[in-house]
Amino acid sequence: MTAVSVEQYKAALGRFASGVTVLSVRDELDDHGITVTAFASVSLDPPLVLASVARASYLHEVLLRRDLWAVSVLAAGQRSIATRFSEIGRPSARLLLADLPHRRGPSTDALIIEDGMAALECRTEQRVDAGDHTLLIGRVLDVAYVADRGAPLLHVTGAYTTSATTPKAASRTSTGDPWLD
Ligand SMILES: Cc1cc2nc3c(=O)[nH]c(=O)nc-3n(C[C@H](O)[C@H](O)[C@H](O)COP(=O)(O)O)c2cc1C
Repeated sequence: MTAVSVEQYKAALGRFASGVTVLSVRDELDDHGITVTAFASVSLDPPLVLASVARASYLHEVLLRRDLWAVSVLAAGQRSIATRFSEIGRPSARLLLADLPHRRGPSTDALIIEDGMAALECRTEQRVDAGDHTLLIGRVLDVAYVADRGAPLLHVTGAYTTSATTPKAASRTSTGDPWLD
C-alpha cells in the first residue's frame, strides 16, 4: 500500500462538504471559541455528538479541563463569525460576540450564538486521542434552539459557500484510475 500524501488527503477530504460550527467553552478566566467543521452526530440514544479539536489549538487545553461546551451551527449569513473564530491570536469569545446577538446557555454557561441554524449544549463523555486531534464525544444536554427557516453555512474545497456546488475551481487530483482521470 502506498503512503497517502498530505496533498491527497487534503484534496479528498476537502471534497467532503460540511456545515460550520462554533464550539464555545467557559473557564475560570474567560469565554473561548473555535470554528469547527469536524462535527458530527454520533448516537440518538443517548444523544451524542462528536467534535474533533486540534491538539495545537488553544481551545484544546481548555477542553481538557472543562467538560461543558456549546455548539452553534452557523447560518449562511454568518460567514464572518466563522472567520472571527478561526483567527490565530483572536480575542475572547465574549469580545468576538460583543456586537452580535448571543446568550449564555443555562446548562453549560457557554456562549450560544443566536440567529444560526441550531445550537446545542453538551457535556464531554469521552475524549479519544486521534493523531494530532482529540475527539470529544459529547452528550447533548440541551437543544438551545432550532431555526425553522434559513440556509446553513457550508465549507467545501477550502472555502465557505451557501450552495452545494464547489465554490471555486478546485483542480482535480489524479486517482491513478484511467477510467476516472
Ligand atoms: C473552515 C474551518 C474549519 C475548521 N475546523 C476545525 C476543526 O474541526 N477542528 C479544529 O480543531 N480546528 C478547526 N479549524 C481551525 C480553528 O478554527 C483555528 O483556526 C485554529 O485552532 C487556530 O486557532 P487557535 O490555535 O488559536 O485555537 C478550522 C478552521 C477553519 C477556517
